[in-house]
Formats: sequence, C-alpha cells, structure tokens
Amino acid sequence: MTVPTKVTLTFDNGQPPIELPVLAGNLGPNVIDIRDLSKLGFLTYDPGFMSTASCNSSISFIDGEAGLLYYRGYPIEQLAQHSDFIEVSYLLIHGELPTSEEKVAFDKTMRRHTMLHDQINTVFRGFRRDAHPMAVLVGVTGALSAFYHDSIDVFDARNREISAYRLIAKVSTIAAMSYKYNMGEPFVYPQNRLGYAENFLYMMFSMPSEPYVVNPVAARALDKILVLHADHEQNASTSTVRLAGSSGANPFACIAAGMASLWGPLHGGANEAVLKMLEDIGDVSRIPEYINRAKDKSNSFRLMGFGHRIYKNMDPRAAVMRQTCHELLNELQLTEDPLFKIALELERIAAQDEYFISRKLYPNVDFYSGIVFRALGIPPSMFTAIFALARTVGWVAQWNEMLAENNHRIGRPRQHYNGAARRDYVPVAERV
Ligand code: CMC
Repeated sequence: MTVPTKVTLTFDNGQPPIELPVLAGNLGPNVIDIRDLSKLGFLTYDPGFMSTASCNSSISFIDGEAGLLYYRGYPIEQLAQHSDFIEVSYLLIHGELPTSEEKVAFDKTMRRHTMLHDQINTVFRGFRRDAHPMAVLVGVTGALSAFYHDSIDVFDARNREISAYRLIAKVSTIAAMSYKYNMGEPFVYPQNRLGYAENFLYMMFSMPSEPYVVNPVAARALDKILVLHADHEQNASTSTVRLAGSSGANPFACIAAGMASLWGPLHGGANEAVLKMLEDIGDVSRIPEYINRAKDKSNSFRLMGFGHRIYKNMDPRAAVMRQTCHELLNELQLTEDPLFKIALELERIAAQDEYFISRKLYPNVDFYSGIVFRALGIPPSMFTAIFALARTVGWVAQWNEMLAENNHRIGRPRQHYNGAARRDYVPVAERV
C-alpha cells in the first residue's frame, strides 16, 4: 500500500474536517503531523507516548516485530561482532563509522579525558559509605558542571563536543570510584594505556597494593555489553535527557537527569532482578515450582529476564548476549556454578515449554547481561551504573542532535485537565 500524504480528521458536531500531513519515515511507522491541532483547540491524549513521535532522530531504530536494532543504520549484530564501544561511540555521536585515523584520534581523546578534577574526591566524601552507586553516580555527574564551566555553552557545537567527550570518559571513572567508595577501598586512577572496558575493570578491581592484570575475556564481554546498551531510541531516560536539555540546561545536569530516570526498576533495574530471582530459586530442583508460579494467573510472580514490551519475536541484543554469556561461562569454567546451572536450566525449560513458546517469551538481554555481570564478579548494585556508562553515549548523541536542530524549541507537553473547575477561596474557619 502506498503511504498517504495526508489524513483527514472529521468531527461529529458539524465542524469542518481538518487535513493533517503525513511524514513518511525512512524506516518504521509513518507519522501524522499534528502540530496545527492545538491552534484549532485540540490536543492529543497519549499517556506513555505509545503513539507519539516526540522528535526527529537519525541515531537508532528499532523494529520490535522483526527483532531489529540499528545504530545509524548498522545492525547491532554486525557492530557487536566487528566493532567496539569506542568506535560505536564515534558512530553514534558523529553519524558515520570513523576512518582508521579518525578512530585512533578519537580513542586517544577519550583516553585523555578519563581523569577527574582532583577536588571531586572531596565531593565523594560527602556521601555515606553505604550509598547506592547510582545515587553517587547521579550526584557526582551532576556536580561536574561545577568543575567544567568552560564547555557548557550548549548552543556552541564545539562546546557540546567537548562536553560529550568529557562525559563519556569521566562517567566510567566516577562509576568505578562509586564502587570503591562503597567498598571502603582506595580510589584507583584510570590507566590511559588501557581501552575503555579494560580501564573500567582495572579501576574497579585493582588495588594499589598489588599488580592487577585485566582478563581480556572479561574486558571483551564487558565491551559487548556496552555496545549493546549504547542507544535505544526515545526510551524514558533518553526522553528525560532531551526534555531537560531542551531548556538549554547544561549537559552534565541533563545526563544526571537521564541517569536518575534509568535507575528506576522499570527501566535499568531488570538485570538486578534476574540475579535476585536466581538466588531465590537457589537450586535446580526448585525450578519447576518457579515455572508453575510464573504460569499461575492468580500469582503475580513473573520470570525475571523473560519477555519484552517491544521485541515480541526476538531481542537482537539478547541473541548476541546469549552467545557471549555461554562463551564466557565456558572460558571462565563456570558452567558448574550452582547459580549459572539454574540460569541455563531455566533457559532450556522455557525454550521447550508451551506457555513460554506460545506467548513468545524468550530470555531478554537483561537475563544474559545479569549472568555475565555475575560471572565478571560485578555486584548487582553496579549493574545499572554500567548500563549508565553505555547509555551516556546515546544520551549525549541524542542531546546533541536536538540542540543542533535549527528549529529547536523547549519541550512543553500539554495535559488533559481533569481537576476542579474555577472555585473561590474559602477561609479556613468556614471550611466544613
Ligand atoms: N513470566 C511469565 N509470564 C509472562 C512474563 C514473564 N516474565 N512476561 C509476560 N508473561 C505473560 C503474561 O502473563 C501474559 O500472559 P496472558 O496472555 O496469559 O495473560 C503474556 O505473557 C503477555 O504479557 P504482557 O504483560 O502483555 O507483556 P508486556 O509486553 O506487557 O510485558 C514485560 C513485557 C517485559 C514487562 C514482561 O514480559 C515482564 O514483566 N518481564 C519480566 C521483567 C523483565 O525481564 N523486564 C526486562 C525487560 S527488557 C528491558 C530493556 O529492554 O531494557
């Protein structure tokens, strides 16, 4: 069927119909341009924004039915197989894959930006030792604007670029420091001879008292997680970054706002829930009991890490993560670990059980990333923080795309008001 160029909105009160233009997407659904509706006294109602395109974007694309995720047009499977996080960061920010010279220069720039202003150590000291790493990450990332004033002219392209680089490089250092602080261990400075994922693992796990060599298998697995989580269209945290940034707010505050949104259990917290569930199950012999609970409609329990709101046939990220997960467990000789045995058995049963097959409930990316994190020795409290490292790239790319638009405007959603009509103030003594 050809794409319509306009749609007609008719009214049942005799009001003349209105024609609305249709914007054809390069991929995905076509979009009805409703911008003129408000001039005619109408708004659209779409809580959860399931039918609303909030912006033009050329960064990432998802087709949930077909199980596709593209970054700048490149399928995620190809990027996960052939690329790495730094190259993907360049792609998301600049729109094209770098040439080899551009890649070397970008990598060097990223490595040069990993250090934090020394005074930031004292910002950490204000937090309780038992603070959740995400609380610290949100706070310290927001505080960066107090240290890097020289790059916060958001209407200057070069300033935006420098802020983007600073954020991507420094968020990794902050996340590792938030873990060290939580553990009561000394902060470890970044080593710029190391790549992004390697450096992060080094800052998390090394101690000044002895040499530490990052396991390359672990670094590769983490790099893959970062690639897979770098961007995902206009999800809650990305939309938060765009809305915060639409007022001209500084980039550090906007990314901190995105992190706060990501921290919510409905967004970035699912892989933590997977690990908790595996621990609750405790033993392979108890799996049937949990499967039965998941199928029981009178029980609210769901198998964590199964199903997806958008990917109904296959989450392409889960397919990549599954392979990484199996390779890692084999390479680290962890297949006999009781928790991993439970995970592998759950995966096997769900693939054969009619309930899961008929509802297209496959293990999602969080199921596998939770297991990979556990295999790497990363505690559940750090899972969302690592997701935030990866997504910082998508956030800055989306924020930059919005500010670079010629017709950029502050975001200002409207509402369907259902409160009281006008009424007069009643003095307190007269209220009943
Ligand atoms: N365990 C058992 N049954 C399930 C599950 C599950 N994990 N997920 C869905 N179902 C059933 C559900 O009960 C319903 O059954 P019926 O048709 O008999 O009523 C059917 O499958 C369809 O479920 P739905 O609630 O319409 O699906 P949804 O698209 O609204 O929910 C979901 C998607 C991800 C919220 C849900 O599958 C779920 O709660 N999964 C567990 C939590 C989880 O792993 N979340 C992470 C998702 S990935 C996040 C990301 O991409 O970043």
